Amino acid sequence: MKALVIHSFGGPEAVAFDEIPVPEPGRGEVRVRVRAAALNPVDWKIRDGYLKDMFPHHFPVTLGWDCAGVVDAVGGGVTGFKEGDAVLAYCRKEFVRDGALAESIVLEPRHLAHKPEGLSFEAAAALPLAGLTAWQALFDAGKLNKGGTVLVHAAAGGVGHLAVQLAKSAGAVVLGTASVPNHDFLRSLGVDHPVDYRGDLLPNVRAAVPDGVDLAFDCIGGEALERSPECLGPEGRIVSIVDPGKIEAFAGKGIRAEWVFVAPNAEQLSELAGRAARGDLKVEVSALRSWKEYAEAFKSLEAGHTRGKIVLRID
Ligand SMILES: NC(=O)c1ccc[n+]([C@@H]2O[C@H](COP(=O)([O-])OP(=O)(O)OC[C@H]3O[C@@H](n4cnc5c(N)ncnc54)[C@H](OP(=O)(O)O)[C@@H]3O)[C@@H](O)[C@H]2O)c1
Repeated sequence: MKALVIHSFGGPEAVAFDEIPVPEPGRGEVRVRVRAAALNPVDWKIRDGYLKDMFPHHFPVTLGWDCAGVVDAVGGGVTGFKEGDAVLAYCRKEFVRDGALAESIVLEPRHLAHKPEGLSFEAAAALPLAGLTAWQALFDAGKLNKGGTVLVHAAAGGVGHLAVQLAKSAGAVVLGTASVPNHDFLRSLGVDHPVDYRGDLLPNVRAAVPDGVDLAFDCIGGEALERSPECLGPEGRIVSIVDPGKIEAFAGKGIRAEWVFVAPNAEQLSELAGRAARGDLKVEVSALRSWKEYAEAFKSLEAGHTRGKIVLRID
């Protein structure tokens, strides 16, 4: 089958189509014929070797951690999924080798949720990694509650645009940073206070929430994360998905701060898919391309200004 692989770490030139064996599901596994796969910054980070100390990598590595498709083979002992089921999946395993940018991928039920009929394959592919990250950061680590206040850094991106909606639907007051051309987009998602990250952060945050926010959710790192402690209220906490080192340094100074690395969670994924199908969670697919155009898609992802998600059709 065709897959987008790397044979060693490297830049954009390291990625190419290759022929690899069609995987067979073992006991407790299903095989998914992939229809669409979203790109995430983790894909170029894996390509470049940034995760090499975090997970074992087995080359050739097929890239891609997000997909939607149809189950076409089921191993023994699997309940809940059968051939022909439409599914979406967050595909991270304990090692890096089998990615979603392939015609097929073998996964376990813990990676999967059923795709509701009202959700397209393209939107479904865009949801798992970013949606689960937003959920786990806001609610599991961030303890965001009804009436709470949250500042989401990089609110127009893949994780951010879902996070602001999830926070809003939980009854929070939401501040989100983006460049000014994205502020109407943020408002359309329910953001109460769009903030220009090129301006001075603190006065804008204090103007909206004088006592400081309950949660700063960092999806960008750098100066945004550096300046997050001063934006917090007395019981406030910081959750970052970008910079574990800085989070450790904050925690060492007594600041409530946590780093999150998203984990597969079938129950949360099912909830997210249901909300998206009902129209309660808008999945913004700002670019939909054939996977043959992967090079342009990666280039655009790496520029760092994607609105919502980039999705590739596995055609
Ligand atoms: N730890 C985990 O489990 C985990 C999970 C998912 C993602 N991540 C990481 O989290 C980061 C975000 O992921 P993503 O998928 O949301 O990325 P993304 O979609 O590529 O983010 C793009 C967004 O970033 C915004 N942006 C760029 N510079 C900014 C700045 N200085 N301040 C605020 N916003 C800025 C852009 O808005 P404008 O166009 O308006 O500039 C754009 O909308 C990546 O580093 C990714 O690797 C980690």
